[in-house]
Amino acid sequence: MADAKSETQSSNQMWGGRFASGPDAIMEEINASIGFDKKLYAQDIRGSMAHATMLAHQGIISTEDRDKIVGGLQAILKEIEDGTFAFSRKLEDIHMNVEARLAALVGPAAGRLHTARSRNDQVALDFRLWVKEELQKTERMLSALIAAFLDRAEEHADTVMPGFTHLQTAQPVTFGHHCMAYVEMFGRDRQRVRHAIEHLDESPIGAAALAGTGFPIDRHMTANALGFREPTRNSIDTVSDRDFALEFLSIAAIAATHLSRLAEEIVIWSTPQFGFIRLSDAFSTGSSIMPQKKNPDAAELVRAKTGRINGSLVALLTVMKGLPLAYSKDMQEDKEQVFDSAESLELALAAMTGMVRDMTVRADRMKAAAGSGYSTATDLADWLVREAGLPFRDAHHVTGRAVALAEQKGCDLAELPLEDLQAINPAITDKVYGVLTVEASVASRTSFGGTAPANVRQQIAWWRGRN
Ligand code: ARG
Repeated sequence: MADAKSETQSSNQMWGGRFASGPDAIMEEINASIGFDKKLYAQDIRGSMAHATMLAHQGIISTEDRDKIVGGLQAILKEIEDGTFAFSRKLEDIHMNVEARLAALVGPAAGRLHTARSRNDQVALDFRLWVKEELQKTERMLSALIAAFLDRAEEHADTVMPGFTHLQTAQPVTFGHHCMAYVEMFGRDRQRVRHAIEHLDESPIGAAALAGTGFPIDRHMTANALGFREPTRNSIDTVSDRDFALEFLSIAAIAATHLSRLAEEIVIWSTPQFGFIRLSDAFSTGSSIMPQKKNPDAAELVRAKTGRINGSLVALLTVMKGLPLAYSKDMQEDKEQVFDSAESLELALAAMTGMVRDMTVRADRMKAAAGSGYSTATDLADWLVREAGLPFRDAHHVTGRAVALAEQKGCDLAELPLEDLQAINPAITDKVYGVLTVEASVASRTSFGGTAPANVRQQIAWWRGRN
C-alpha cells in the first residue's frame, strides 16, 4: 500500500477514457482482486481463446487478428506457468492483467478481443469453469473416501460394536454397518456434487455486460468449445447469478459437517477409555511434555475446518442477499470464500481417507463394549413378544425389571439365572439365552437396512456397483 500512490497517478488503460486522474491508493487497494483471482488464469485464457475463435468464425474479427490473439494468449499461459508473468495490482484483476499483456505482445489486435463481451460475463465464465473443475475433483475424492470405507466395512462386516443413541449404549451393531452409514452420507454428498455440475453446466460468455450484444455472436459455439451443455438463457441472470458458488459452498458445508462428525467419532474412539481404534503414526502427533500421548490432531483439524467452510457459506449468502440485478462489485468477494473452502475440503477429504485406511480397528475392545450396558435388552423384549405373545409395552416393562435386577446383582442379562427371570415373568424359558448374546442380536437384525452381517454384505455389493 505504501508505494501505491505514485503508481496510481495515471488513469486505468482499460477503462480510464473518461477519468482525468488515477484512483486513490486506497481505492486501488479495495478494488483490486488480482491477489486472489490470478488463480483463474487458465480459465480466463481458455475463455478468451474460445471467444476470439468464435468472433473470427462469425466474421466479427479477422482470422489474422484471431491468430495473433490466440498465439499471444498461448505465450501468456506459458509465462504464467513458468512464473515469469508480472501481475500488476494497477490492472485490478486477472482479466485486465491478461489483456494488457496481450496488447504488449501482439499490439492493436488485442484490443479487438473484448468485442461483444464484458468483464461481467467473463468473470462469470472463468469462475464457473473453475468451480466445475473443483466439483469434479471433489467427486473423485469422495469416491476415494467411499472406497476406503467399503474396504473397512467388508473387513468388519461381522465385527460387533455397541451402537449408540445419546452416546449411550443402545443396541449392538457391526462396525461394518457403522462404516456403511458413512458411505451413505458421502454417497449423498457425491450426488449433490453431480447435481451441482449439471446445474452449472451452462455457458455465460456472450451475456456481455447484462443485456447481450448487437454483434452476431454464436453462443452455442463458445458453449460447445468450453465443454458446457448449452448457453445460459437470460443475460441479466447470467451476470448476476452466483448460485453455482453458493451450491459449491453448501455442498462443501454439508460434506464438511459429515467429515466433522466422523472426526468427532475418531477422537472419541481413539481415547484409551474407548480404545475402539488406534490411529496410525502417520495421522497422529505426540505431546512435547507427555511422552505417553498420541493425539488425533488430523481429526481435530478436520473438525475445525468445518467451521471455516460453514463460515464461507454464510459469508457469501450474506454478500448476495441484498444485491439488485444485475452485476455489483460486491460479487468480487465470492472467490476467496470458494477458494478457501475448496482448499479446506480437499485437505479434510484427503486426511480422512488416509485415517480411515490406516486406522487399526480393535475388534476385541469393540466386542467387549458391545455386550456391556444391557445392550441386548431389546432382544429380550422382542423375544417376549415373539415367543410369549406379550404386547411390546408389557414386554418392555418386564425387561426393565430384568435389567434392574441384573444391575442390582452386578451381572449381565445373560448371567441372570432362569429362576430369577421366571420370577419376573413365568413365560420365560431357557431358550431366551439364545437371543441375549451380541452375535445373536446383530444376526437377527435382518430387516432391510438392518445391521445383520448378511445385510451389510449386500449393502457393500450394492455400493461397489456404484463406486
Ligand atoms: N474482478 C471483477 C470480479 O471479480 C471482475 C468483474 C468486474 N466487472 C465490473 N463491471 N467492474 O467481479
